[in-house]
Amino acid sequence: MPVNLPPEFKRKIFRHGLPRTPTEALQVPRRSVFWHLHPTRIFAERMQLRFSFCLGGISFLLFLVTAISGALLMIYYRPVVENAYGDILDLQYTVFLGSFLRNLHRWAGHGIVITVVLHMLRVFYTGCYKAPREFNWIVGVGLLLIVCGLAFTGYLLPWDQISYWGTRIGTNLLHAVPFIGSDGPFGSELGLRPDSDVAYLLLGDADLGQRALIRFYSLHVFILPLLAAILMSVHFWRVRKDGKLALKL
Ligand code: HEM
Repeated sequence: MPVNLPPEFKRKIFRHGLPRTPTEALQVPRRSVFWHLHPTRIFAERMQLRFSFCLGGISFLLFLVTAISGALLMIYYRPVVENAYGDILDLQYTVFLGSFLRNLHRWAGHGIVITVVLHMLRVFYTGCYKAPREFNWIVGVGLLLIVCGLAFTGYLLPWDQISYWGTRIGTNLLHAVPFIGSDGPFGSELGLRPDSDVAYLLLGDADLGQRALIRFYSLHVFILPLLAAILMSVHFWRVRKDGKLALKL
């Protein structure tokens, strides 16, 4: 049975009715939190699904899924070398809905990497990296790096053989980065040693251990998600301000 809410109650939530004039139509994206992402003027064909495939929106949705499922996983998981692997096994096999939560987090995390890359390709293909959107492209590159950072730091947390050795390979590569790695170009000229370069900064030690686990954990659950949330706010604000959603091709 349809529920008829009083008009003044609806107006409190949506703050606009159906637009009757072009001026009223302009008010809709200005007043509604849901339509606010869109520029006030937009080509009708840009609103079709086949134009953007909503890949940016899907990336954001997956980000929310990982954030919520990750917050719930935090209730059980302890970032301590002696407990981390056991907590993951408990989550997988004994905790109520633990395996569901873990898989949800994992697959949504894999999904973000895929949809962000596809979103970037769509933006490139439709020429949206050009002026006036060049700043938003740079913000997007920042988001891509953060998404990669989240995937990399999350990989170590189960503290099993694959995550331990996979992270070891990744952090060993850091020693070879120019200017900031001890074995990389200009590393020795700048006086960098294995205990004073970027890999050491990330691990907090010469090898993978408790300090590395806690650093990866803080990056994964707090620092990188916070940076992502800040950059996403700027990204969405720019989508609206740059207007029209893509250039007229
Ligand atoms: C977590 C990552 C990201 C999220 C959540 C996100 C979200 C969004 C959303 C919701 C839009 C509106 C249009 C659409 O849905 O396609 C958008 C547009 C845009 N994005 Fe992203 N994005 C992300 C990463 C990136 C990356 C990696 C790039 C490029 C390096 C990028 C560049 C752009 C540009 C230039 C626009 C404006 C496109 C236009 O006006 O048609 N974004 N983004």
